[in-house]
Amino acid sequence: MLSYRHAFHAGNFADVLKHSALSLVLDYMTRKEKGFCYIDSHSGAGMYQLTDEYAQKTGEYKDGIAKIINDDEAPESLKPYLSLISSLNLNSDLNVYPGSPGIAKAFVRRQDSSHLFELHPTDIQHLEDFCQRWRKVFVKQSDGYQGVLGLLPPPSRRGVVLIDPPYELKEDYQKAVNTIIKAYTKFATGTYILWYPVVKRELIDQMSESFTESSIKNLLQVEFCLENDTDEYGMTGSGLFIVNPPWQLSQQLEEILPYIKTKLGCKESSYTLKQLIAE
Ligand SMILES: C[S@@+](CC[C@H](N)C(=O)[O-])C[C@H]1O[C@@H](n2cnc3c(N)ncnc32)[C@H](O)[C@@H]1O
Repeated sequence: MLSYRHAFHAGNFADVLKHSALSLVLDYMTRKEKGFCYIDSHSGAGMYQLTDEYAQKTGEYKDGIAKIINDDEAPESLKPYLSLISSLNLNSDLNVYPGSPGIAKAFVRRQDSSHLFELHPTDIQHLEDFCQRWRKVFVKQSDGYQGVLGLLPPPSRRGVVLIDPPYELKEDYQKAVNTIIKAYTKFATGTYILWYPVVKRELIDQMSESFTESSIKNLLQVEFCLENDTDEYGMTGSGLFIVNPPWQLSQQLEEILPYIKTKLGCKESSYTLKQLIAE
């Protein structure tokens, strides 16, 4: 099943949390001269036009990135993410928004390599076009879960893996966790970021349980919910599991979460940040 298109959702409140955390992780990785490997299991199109029919149909970015892009009071920790988005848009306009490959492209250096997986026939075409003048990038139209496992450990022994499935299938929840658990046995020092939607709380609880029963150490969980959990259909929030986060990340997220709650949320909105598994 491949009906999910991220173009409808680019720049929404969930992307703000996911991409600001990804920016902080990648920014941290570039502080050492030694190269690293970025692996994106579910890449999407790479870059999105917010003026196109998809983004305009849902208008989700208007309740996400649009609310903070020109805010002078944004906390320091959001700056790597916000300056990147601003650099892609002229004169305080907001016409384009990067997907995770677009975020990565802004951080990687000559010594870093990137591996991007995407299955959708249209999005893989957009992704290939987007990557045309990017050196040391490898784009593949194949399954990202298997792709991640095939690349680990990276020769540089420094790596960031983003796993961001569409969750169209219920099995994605467990498959994503199992992929990280397996990947960790091959490369225990890598940083793994797993995005999840808050749709059914039990599914997230099962993910947490599988992680805590695994051999994984040092796992941070961050979540921002617009509304309380509900039995009705629809995403009320989203979160990230981050294995081996950079040491300052938790502190930086503590700065970002109350800010996005104020700017993007309402009275019911909430956030959590916890070290689910100790170092
Ligand atoms: C949530 S979107 C990715 C968004 C992107 N990571 C970002 O942050 O901009 C999920 C993408 O995964 C793709 N996809 C679905 N199953 C896949 C699989 N098994 N392997 C690789 N890509 C897959 C979908 O076509 C979709 O474009």
